[in-house]
Amino acid sequence: MIHLEHVNVRVPDQQLATQFYVVALGLTRDPYLMVGLENMWINVGNSQFHLPTAAAQVLRGFTGLVIPDFDELPARLATAAERLKGTKFSYHVEASYADVTCPWGNRFRLHPPQEKFPRLTLGMPYVEFPVRQGTADGIARFYKEIIGAPSCVVSNGTVAAEVGVGTSQKLIFRETNEPPDPYDGHHIAVCIADFSGPHKKMLERGVVSEESNPYQYRFVDIVDPDNGKVLFEIEHEVRCVTAPHVPPPADQPQPGPAAADLRVGSGRPQLLIAHIGERAAPRCPPALNRVASRSACPVISSCAWRGRGRGRSRRRREIAGTSR
Ligand SMILES: [Fe+2]
Repeated sequence: MIHLEHVNVRVPDQQLATQFYVVALGLTRDPYLMVGLENMWINVGNSQFHLPTAAAQVLRGFTGLVIPDFDELPARLATAAERLKGTKFSYHVEASYADVTCPWGNRFRLHPPQEKFPRLTLGMPYVEFPVRQGTADGIARFYKEIIGAPSCVVSNGTVAAEVGVGTSQKLIFRETNEPPDPYDGHHIAVCIADFSGPHKKMLERGVVSEESNPYQYRFVDIVDPDNGKVLFEIEHEVRCVTAPHVPPPADQPQPGPAAADLRVGSGRPQLLIAHIGERAAPRCPPALNRVASRSACPVISSCAWRGRGRGRSRRRREIAGTSR
């Protein structure tokens, strides 16, 4: 897996979601896709939150975020609190991190940039899930043997399976004695280098839950590769990096969810390829995340920030209200 692309949880109220994700956390709503009332995409560096409008979903565990202006976070949270009264919104700020809960109970741990999160000044370095005792080893083997992702079991007071994603992100499955909350269907999306290899292995085990299109499939069950026992459930939207792309328009793309505007392919893998192929080149400044215009990357002329997020299938599906 080379990129943790998004976390998807449904939200019942876009105004509250805006107050939380934009005003409180200081993130930016994607200004080009999902700009209507049926969905909202929130940019976090090269990753996103997808927030379809529907009954709330709550990710089991929490999402880690790195933000460049951590010092300003307490003031933002305090400012946002008034409009979030009466919800599950809460926060606790320490010197090196802040724990924040959204109006519907999703939890986030925000960090300032640091060596622990290499190459990230704004992004989503990890998602951590609570799992049952005795499952971390099997989960680590699932990702290693089925997905081909680097993974290991870490014991440091607690036991957790840690799965590397790209160069700067992780999925963490930490064992806990707490009974797991029921799974409500929230999902994560990852880009994967070996698209067909894991697909074949999961087909053999009956794990593939959806054949979305030639560039995407999904699975929910994380199973012990030895015996097929389900160890944890979290839907993965798995995308390849070779999906066809179209160049972005030379002029500024217009906001709007019109299906007629759809193009084949996703800009995000293209973004990754651009950067993987130019390791020596400077990275796009994270400040781009906050800039309304993405018509040109000032750092890399071929940078796919120009085409970010122009996924046909993803967009069509979300427009259709399937919350994907
Ligand atoms: Fe998704």
